Amino acid sequence: MNDPKIIVALDYADATSANKLVSQLDPKLCRLKVGKELFTAAGPQFVEQLARSNFGVFLDLKFHDIPNTVAKACTAASNLGVWMLNVHASGGSEMMQAAKQAVDASSSKPLLIAVTVLTSMNQHTLNQVGIHTNLAEHVLNLAKLTQLAGLDGVVCSALEAKTLRTELGSQFCLVTPGIRPENANKDDQSRIVTPSEALALGSSYLVIGRPITQAPDPAKVLDNIISECRAYIK
Ligand code: C5P
Repeated sequence: MNDPKIIVALDYADATSANKLVSQLDPKLCRLKVGKELFTAAGPQFVEQLARSNFGVFLDLKFHDIPNTVAKACTAASNLGVWMLNVHASGGSEMMQAAKQAVDASSSKPLLIAVTVLTSMNQHTLNQVGIHTNLAEHVLNLAKLTQLAGLDGVVCSALEAKTLRTELGSQFCLVTPGIRPENANKDDQSRIVTPSEALALGSSYLVIGRPITQAPDPAKVLDNIISECRAYIK
């Protein structure tokens, strides 16, 4: 089965700019991530249009609310035909289970993953919101809670992937941003890993934005990344 490992982050302000990139990409070679900015600007119809043109779409809206509301949002998202969607693990077990039930009751049954701790947070910002557990331990606890709730995986840094892969087994889906091909601009990412390193560390799918979206020839960069990764894809 064709299962592209690269998820291109469509971090654009409007559908026109996003479409300019999408028209240069092949759904057999990559998937697409739509986050809060593009979703808020371009709406669900845009997501449906991407899904209809055969792209696997990761709808990255990180739902976090009461279980009933999250479940209904997950039903609506599933009905757009997306391949993957996500919630915040810190919404708790009941919320994640409600989300999972909603996704499983849909006809498209997308993968459901959870965000553990946002990588923009550090020990200090975690303490500020009343969590005094060590950050790495907190990530692992939330990932275990996600697995127990029956979800398919988590978003995590590739640097966390090795531990999570060991602790949570080979079937758990690890989706990792913060990826930079050798020689690429780091942008604002600080802890970066190359695509092949991320796969070797146990990542299932790689979220890559600017190295592809800002390139003069995005399809060529994607091609090079896929070639680099070939040996690591099981
Ligand atoms: O352009 P770049 O490759 O840095 O984009 C990475 C994408 O992954 C962006 O959409 C960003 O919001 C997302 N992301 C991230 N780090 C996280 C979680 C998500 O960079 N920890």
